[in-house]
Amino acid sequence: MKGIVVFDTSYGNTRTIAEAISETLKESGIEVDLFHVKDVKRLSAKDYNFLVIGSPTRFGTMSFAIRGFLGKVKGEEWMNKPFAAFDTENPENVEKSEWSAAEKIAAKLRDKRMNHLLPVLKALVFGQKGPLQEGEIERAKEYARRLAVELKR
Ligand SMILES: Cc1cc2nc3c(=O)[nH]c(=O)nc-3n(C[C@H](O)[C@H](O)[C@H](O)COP(=O)(O)O)c2cc1C
Repeated sequence: MKGIVVFDTSYGNTRTIAEAISETLKESGIEVDLFHVKDVKRLSAKDYNFLVIGSPTRFGTMSFAIRGFLGKVKGEEWMNKPFAAFDTENPENVEKSEWSAAEKIAAKLRDKRMNHLLPVLKALVFGQKGPLQEGEIERAKEYARRLAVELKR
């Protein structure tokens, strides 16, 4: 089984979470390609069994680059394949699901008839630049361990 983890970041926090997820999936025996969104040259569902996407939350939604990337995820190719979505955001927004990049990514992928495997992960950062709050990397690893279990079901 092989998946692709795609993330955007300005200050590195979302990259750290993407790396934690990708490393943990690998430790669970799952092959993963990890890409900054700008480095994805070509995306084919033939190469991957699942998709994980992460974005910083900006103005209550995903980054422009991630929005552009979602346009490359063609429903007819990716339909029924599993996905997970995560974001980084500030704690005061965590209860507001309509202000979460990950929730918006998930809604778009569900619209493409992809299979939403786990509720989104919202990793908490301090302010705009971070750092991540204490324990968030471990929470991302735990999320990836649960993801691995679901993927192997
Ligand atoms: C222009 C801008 C808008 C932001 N808007 C939000 C927001 O609507 N909600 C939120 O929780 N955090 C918001 N933030 C904080 C970001 O979520 C934070 O910068 C991001 O998680 C850091 O991730 P990164 O290091 O991967 O870039 C905003 C940050 C910037 C720079």
